[in-house]
Amino acid sequence: MATVGARVLAIESSCDETACAVTTGSRVEASVVASQIEVHARFGGVVPELASRHHLGSIVHVVREAMARARLAKLSELDAIAVTEGPGLVGALLVGVQLGRALAAAASLPIVGVHHMEGHLFSAVLGDDRQAARPFEPHLALLVSGGHTELALVRGLADYVILGATRDDAVGEAYDKVAKMLGLGYPGGPVIDRLAGDGDPGAILFPRAMLDQDNLDFSFSGLKTAVLTRLEKHGEPGSREELCDLCASFQAAVVEVLVSKTVRAQRATQAKSVHAVGGVAANRGLRSALARAAGERGFSFVAAEPRYCGDNAAMIAAAAAARIEAGLVLGVDVHSNRTLEDARVSVRGSRASVD
Ligand code: KG4
Ligand code: ZN
Repeated sequence: MATVGARVLAIESSCDETACAVTTGSRVEASVVASQIEVHARFGGVVPELASRHHLGSIVHVVREAMARARLAKLSELDAIAVTEGPGLVGALLVGVQLGRALAAAASLPIVGVHHMEGHLFSAVLGDDRQAARPFEPHLALLVSGGHTELALVRGLADYVILGATRDDAVGEAYDKVAKMLGLGYPGGPVIDRLAGDGDPGAILFPRAMLDQDNLDFSFSGLKTAVLTRLEKHGEPGSREELCDLCASFQAAVVEVLVSKTVRAQRATQAKSVHAVGGVAANRGLRSALARAAGERGFSFVAAEPRYCGDNAAMIAAAAAARIEAGLVLGVDVHSNRTLEDARVSVRGSRASVD
């Protein structure tokens, strides 16, 4: 398949992954991710100060590696530089943004700031040499990560409506906190997912928050407290079997809520396609439950490839390429907590798409 689109080098440093990628449109030429998991694991979560310091130490190496893997000798072979401008840890974001600015200035290339969650939306359309990249078409997105849990209607590029969101903890945060309670380390999602595969999801009935409410919002702090209360009452799981049952029961509660609300949103919007993106979209239980719901209800379902669910720069590059093609390019403006809907502000001071 012929490749179309701008060739972009992107840098992502919003949290605890130092990443650089080169894509042409949404076809990935190189994607390098240096994880800081080991740095933060002993603290049970991300320490912002340490994150910035480690980004500084590894970012140049990561950019060089991405250039080499994409067989790029010079920056002038690119059409643009992209960076994640937020949301995220400000100190961490600044490392990527400053290097991006320097590279763009040195090679006289335009710089494109990308909203981190808009990047996650593009993770579902990424492809490599073997798999052709998919087009970015209107869909319903379930965005599930360590900092976000949202259902968004993607009406087109830079045209996003948040239909529902968590009122307290993000779902990934709930996984991480429950894993911490169980002494399973950080990040909690992958290990709980693995253990859940060997457990009985019906062993313990954990609460399904807000299921009976007629909205598309979520809440996960009650579930986290329910796990804590269970541990206080019954003590730590005494065997691997008990641990697996607890993980499976926790995951069943999470998945049931996420799938029910996603199905409700699909019904309300009549979206033909549902995408799952973000770190938690790598969850095997969630992926199979959403695929089953899609089959039963006749909508198509796309989950980002597991390697592109977590933070990476390929998704940032692909989002930037789409914006370049559509003429919706901004410059960079570091921010720590703008919502996805703010990514609609596509030309400074004016809206790309207003109802
Ligand atoms: O998207 P991401 O890499 O970073 C943020 O932008 O937050 O998401 C990280 C989150 C963590 O909370 C991690 O525990 C969770 O994604 N996660 C998972 C799985 N893999 C990663 N949660 C559930 N199941 C998984 N397999
Ligand atoms: Zn993320």
